[in-house]
Amino acid sequence: MNNSGAVLWFTGLSGAGKSTIANIVVDDLVQRACLVELLDGDEVREHLSKGLGFSKEDRDINIRRIGWVAKVLARNKVIAVTAAISPYRALRDEMRADIDGFIEIHVATPLEVCESRDVKGLYAKARAGEIPQFTGIDDPYEPPLHPELRLDTEGRAPAESAAEVLAYLEARGIIDPA
Ligand code: ADX
Repeated sequence: MNNSGAVLWFTGLSGAGKSTIANIVVDDLVQRACLVELLDGDEVREHLSKGLGFSKEDRDINIRRIGWVAKVLARNKVIAVTAAISPYRALRDEMRADIDGFIEIHVATPLEVCESRDVKGLYAKARAGEIPQFTGIDDPYEPPLHPELRLDTEGRAPAESAAEVLAYLEARGIIDPA
């Protein structure tokens, strides 16, 4: 066994780089023959959370579902990697309290940067009033106060941020050194 169970809970604005960094982390862990599974926000909403919207109630349901699956995976010695905005601090703290090996990773890309990149074109639509309740525009994002890891992505390649995560997991003894 090259790893113990854990939950890597990525949180951050839309377009912050959660999925990109999480995907690299997952690839790196697979390379190291670790047991790993990715629960990506967009994918979860296609399957596990299909039909849910973006009200606080629906986001909370989405997060609790992701948290439950991640918890079950982690207790079976899998590193579960989640990448949903998870905007509400109270919900993330609820997950923290409920899940052994919960590691909160704040992808701390500022709103201005996410909005100027606008990879999916959603910020422009939100500003034009076409997407109500868009996180960071007219819906809250509550940044973590004490995340296990904070990734400052500005001027850093996603692979560098992913390497920070791997180094942290090594230091915590969750994965074996390379
Ligand atoms: S969460 O709030 O419940 O954690 P989640 O990560 O699953 O959100 O979904 C966010 C993704 O849905 C965004 O990256 C974006 O592509 C899309 N999306 C659509 N509408 C919204 C909205 N109102 N707020 C945020 N993201 C939205």
